[in-house]
Amino acid sequence: MSDRANQVISDILRRIHEAIVENDVTYEEYQAAKQWFIDVGEAGEWPLFGDVYIEHAVEEQAFGNRAGSQGTILGPFHLPDAPLLDAPFELPHRPDEPGDRTRVTGRVTDVDDNPLPNANLDIWQADASGAYSGFMPGPPDGNLRGQVRTDADGRYEYVTVIPGPYTIPLDGPTGRMTAAADWSPWRPAHIHLIVSAEGYEPLVTQLFIDTSDHLDNDVASAVKEELIVHPERADGGLAFTYDFALAPARTPAVA
Ligand code: DHB
Ligand code: FE
Repeated sequence: MSDRANQVISDILRRIHEAIVENDVTYEEYQAAKQWFIDVGEAGEWPLFGDVYIEHAVEEQAFGNRAGSQGTILGPFHLPDAPLLDAPFELPHRPDEPGDRTRVTGRVTDVDDNPLPNANLDIWQADASGAYSGFMPGPPDGNLRGQVRTDADGRYEYVTVIPGPYTIPLDGPTGRMTAAADWSPWRPAHIHLIVSAEGYEPLVTQLFIDTSDHLDNDVASAVKEELIVHPERADGGLAFTYDFALAPARTPAVA
């Protein structure tokens, strides 16, 4: 076993053992926990559990001190290969897609405010009822997923609808654990993005809608003040602007 694996695994196990001692955990509770591990696996909820309850600490540790725009968790619902959109840059949606239409505009720059032309924004979000295409019944495959590129001035633009808040599945083991602890199962309404450009660190982030419920108690602990956007009425719909600044790519360590 590597020193690294020995160190990290020993530390996690020691902390679990300490929690058992400090809380006087019983055999009945241990057996219930073991059954719960099995249930999470059978329900396919390990990715969901990890991204809700663990990923935010990893993200903060990895990127908390990075220059440029704030990142936050990736979550379990990204799909690769969303279509690259052409003008008029509207995320694919149903003809009768519910939710307020919103125009999103902004710039992608380096940390010195130099524009980054041809930067890529890979965008995905839930629909107005909080459902992600490809994972939940309701929206068709590819709904509200797409990629856009910045123009020569580093500007981007796309149209979408305001997503709804999302709740982790209440009837699954992660939801049952959340209810058992009397925690809220909700995430506030958010739009996911991965912003990338040649020579820069990809930015995995989310934009949170300021009018959404649950901003102050996101079950996934992923809200950052700098990532809250403020859509305003414009041309019969809503509009907001958000500028992204990318940190330079880390130079790979020379072996
Ligand atoms: C989860 C859902 C999300 O929409 C998200 O952004 C992060 C995590 C989840 O259910 O695990
Ligand atoms: Fe999400």
